[in-house]
Amino acid sequence: MKRILVTGGAGFIGSNLVRYLYRKYPEYKIIVVDALTYAGSIQNCPENAFGSSTYEFWYGDVRNGELMDTLVAQADIVIHMAAESHVTRSIYDNRLFFETDVLGTQTVANAVLKHAKTVERFIHISTSEVYGTALSGQMDEDHQLNPMSPYAAAKCGADRLVYSYWATYDIPSVIVRPFNNYGPSQHLEKAVPRFITSCILEEPLTVHGDGSAARDWLFVEDHCQALDQIIHAPLDLVRGQVLNIGTGEHLTVLEIAEAIREIMQPAKSQIELIGDRPGQVFRHTCDYSRIHKLLDWKPSTPFREGIVKTIEYFRQNREWWQSQMWMRHIPIITAAGKKEMH
Ligand SMILES: NC(=O)c1ccc[n+]([C@@H]2O[C@H](COP(=O)([O-])OP(=O)(O)OC[C@H]3O[C@@H](n4cnc5c(N)ncnc54)[C@H](O)[C@@H]3O)[C@@H](O)[C@H]2O)c1
Repeated sequence: MKRILVTGGAGFIGSNLVRYLYRKYPEYKIIVVDALTYAGSIQNCPENAFGSSTYEFWYGDVRNGELMDTLVAQADIVIHMAAESHVTRSIYDNRLFFETDVLGTQTVANAVLKHAKTVERFIHISTSEVYGTALSGQMDEDHQLNPMSPYAAAKCGADRLVYSYWATYDIPSVIVRPFNNYGPSQHLEKAVPRFITSCILEEPLTVHGDGSAARDWLFVEDHCQALDQIIHAPLDLVRGQVLNIGTGEHLTVLEIAEAIREIMQPAKSQIELIGDRPGQVFRHTCDYSRIHKLLDWKPSTPFREGIVKTIEYFRQNREWWQSQMWMRHIPIITAAGKKEMH
């Protein structure tokens, strides 16, 4: 029996994790806190969970110290996912990114510190974006931190804040740096759902720059499995660790768009190149050998299998994504001073 608090548990990765844990460990108590921003949805919560004694949903903000204090006091394990998470949006409106991602993390970390006697582990979800463009073939956890966007800088601040609380106060933290996730329930603002829904809608698939920016694409269920192992590993193995989670392989954004077109076979949708994203990271490739050595974790879903499952989800759940249509493209001013829809 464990009591797990998940912040941001109504968002993409958070809700996949909550559904995964709720299904796999029916005896665990799962507490979700989420501010239900445009990125979170109550529909993402596990089916039939409301009213169950093992699931609790709190509509609240991670920047609220009193609330975090109350909720962290009830948990053995805290998994901190809540964040503003869209790189492109951080280019034109970033204040909230620093408030939520940095100050929200400080608030949660303070609550963990206050309840250090009862909180067994604090799993902070950072991101590969903290590294910036790869300076080596595969990027291990000692890669330089060169955040390239305001989102990445905010997440980098949060990542180092948690590190400093571990170094200063010895909180039982584990910092996880996942690479690009894709899968069911991802918001339409992100590349994979945007490409899939463009094919469904028979619209062009818009790709930044020449499409050569490459990422390490991780199916969200593999991420959930890694977190499951981190939750259950002997504490001494993971306490104070920074752990990459990814596949060790990269695909360019153009290759992703082409793969989705090839599988979905739309009659009209063509790939259309648009201006590059300012602060673009040109390549990310994960070295996951640390978590592999420590916990024997490795990704188990080949890209084609994961993308087929994701396409199927978006084909079956149009009602869910229809309301997000207006956020598929957002305006930014490019380095050349041009307004473009990204
Ligand atoms: N999606 C990826 O590819 C990826 C990769 C690496 C790391 N991450 C990190 O994983 C975490 C989850 O990412 P995601 O893609 O699921 O994001 P998401 O944007 O889909 O979900 C974020 C959730 O946090 C909630 N939230 C936002 N501000 C809040 C606040 N002040 N208080 C409480 N809740 C708040 C939102 O309502 C939403 O439900 C984030 O920390 C993100 O930085 C994501």
